[in-house]
Amino acid sequence: MNIIAPSMLACDFGNLNREIEMVNKSEAKWFHIDVMDGVFVPNISFGTPIMNILKKNAKKTLDVHLMIVNPDNYLENFAELGADILTVHFEACTHLHRTIQRIKGLKMKAGVALNPHTPISSLKSIIKDLDLVCIMSVNPGFGGQSFIEETYDKVKELKSLIENQNSKAIIEIDGGVNSQNAKKLIECGANALVAGSFVFKSKNPTETISELSLLIN
Ligand code: DX5
Ligand code: ZN
Repeated sequence: MNIIAPSMLACDFGNLNREIEMVNKSEAKWFHIDVMDGVFVPNISFGTPIMNILKKNAKKTLDVHLMIVNPDNYLENFAELGADILTVHFEACTHLHRTIQRIKGLKMKAGVALNPHTPISSLKSIIKDLDLVCIMSVNPGFGGQSFIEETYDKVKELKSLIENQNSKAIIEIDGGVNSQNAKKLIECGANALVAGSFVFKSKNPTETISELSLLIN
């Protein structure tokens, strides 16, 4: 079963509990949670207080995407805040192998995100240890950007790297996902699609999630 992960960055924070309930009742499998520090990316999103509300009320997998420098300083925090999957950026980790082992040691699934300019081959020596790879299909920092078409080739390349090395990593795509590119992304090898604006800015987010889910399953 392929996964839809609504990105809470695009939700109405004035009605956060209502938005969480919408995702709880929908066909989405995960909550995608974008943490931005204004240093690694040119935008600040949210941190602990919002994570606490999600931890309390969200009934599905919490897929946390850290767009922060020095993620090593916060791994324990996010474990305590209920992250099920913790994804760090390749570009933000000097000792990626150690970071991944620490995330796993904290009983979370370990993910690595790649910026659009970072080649898939960077993961050659670590792919076996990863539970998830997040291919950024926009430059991280903001919701509502256009999908970068080169992503399809990266997905195919990652899929073959995963198969060649017998890795169990899930391929997640993040940024500009909509009903135009969802099916093709799955055909190229993706298993999980993050969708922010396409879901939350639509007239009926629950229906949009079911439509996307039907397209990819
Ligand atoms: C971008 C974030 C994405 C973003 C996706 O930096 O990592 O998760 O919220 O939003 P959309 O689907 O609107 O591109
Ligand atoms: Zn994200």
